[in-house]
Amino acid sequence: MSHPPEPGPESAPGPARPGLRRRVVVTGAAGFIGAHVCRRLLGMGIDVTGIDNFDPYYDAQVKRRALGEVAGCAGSAAFDFHEADLCDRGAVGALVAGAEGVIHLAGRPGVRASVEDPVACYRANVLGTAAVLAEAARSGVRRVVAASSSSVYGDRAAGPFHEEMDVNEARSPYAASKRACELMAHTHHHLTGVPTAMLRFFTVYGPGQRPDLAISTFLSAARDGRAVRLFGAPTRSRDYTYIDDIVAGVLAAYGAIDRFGFRVWNLGNNRPASLADLVGVIGQVTGRALRTERAEAPQGDVEHTWADLSRARRELGYQPTTDLAQGIAQQWAWMNGRSGVGGA
Ligand SMILES: NC(=O)c1ccc[n+]([C@@H]2O[C@H](COP(=O)([O-])OP(=O)(O)OC[C@H]3O[C@@H](n4cnc5c(N)ncnc54)[C@H](O)[C@@H]3O)[C@@H](O)[C@H]2O)c1
Repeated sequence: MSHPPEPGPESAPGPARPGLRRRVVVTGAAGFIGAHVCRRLLGMGIDVTGIDNFDPYYDAQVKRRALGEVAGCAGSAAFDFHEADLCDRGAVGALVAGAEGVIHLAGRPGVRASVEDPVACYRANVLGTAAVLAEAARSGVRRVVAASSSSVYGDRAAGPFHEEMDVNEARSPYAASKRACELMAHTHHHLTGVPTAMLRFFTVYGPGQRPDLAISTFLSAARDGRAVRLFGAPTRSRDYTYIDDIVAGVLAAYGAIDRFGFRVWNLGNNRPASLADLVGVIGQVTGRALRTERAEAPQGDVEHTWADLSRARRELGYQPTTDLAQGIAQQWAWMNGRSGVGGA
């Protein structure tokens, strides 16, 4: 295997030099976070090659709509989409060849689903990531940024969670798959010298959010007058993070990773909200009180998540700016057709 060249000044982030087009591969381009990242890159005038296999984890129509919106905002940059499975190395290899970098966001999300079907989770997340890294190495791609998850922190009573904590107590196949991706990414950097970042996202929401996640299901229930099921105690909490803040963090990591070699960064909000808080905010934003039913916490779920952002603030200038009520109001407006998919 040939080693890619050391990253030089020509790989530095920033405006393209005249006559030199930049092209980034985004995996999971039809997914929630992927579609927003594609829009932001295109808005910066960077060509994007999107890959997605329309995994049936949720309705493919939702993904096709998101892709249509990405294509519609390409402007002067080129958006090229390919339906392909990450495990198809030939297809992935052909698409990453010649790209300056890969932002790898494809994967099978969902803690509960991973407990029901761990093999599907490991196939997409572990084998899929292995294929992306191997093909990126073969083609000499000069930087890689990939999605990890707050799930790697396991079940902790006290927060916030910082990147130096021990993360060897995965509570679900999903968490184990993301921890495996981090180790594989580290190995990729060690063997190739390619700057490689792993981003631990904390529950992401906003316009276009995955339909299986709590804020989406709660807003749909408020709209349709249905009751929502609260899994576990109302004191359980999540560090909900708005999509535009996440996209800013992804792009900052993509720009900065050359300086670090290999790095893990938390991208969260540092202001966890309990389930009870969430129900209250949904009521305020929609003007409709949510009817709730209690349900047992699913196997594999954790009680709390809470991101320590000191490293991301210091090294990436990452600073989330959207609070939960503002972000949920944006998502509610989007669901009701009163705005497009954010400014991402
Ligand atoms: N949304 C969150 O709160 C959150 C939190 C932590 C981590 N993450 C991670 O961030 C990434 C993006 O999450 P998301 O919420 O946008 O999920 P998403 O499901 O909306 O997007 C993932 C996309 O990957 C595609 N995909 C899955 N398997 C594939 C395969 N084998 N080949 C090609 N494409 C494939 C899916 O079709 C989907 O469109 C995932 O890796 C996820 O695990 C998300």
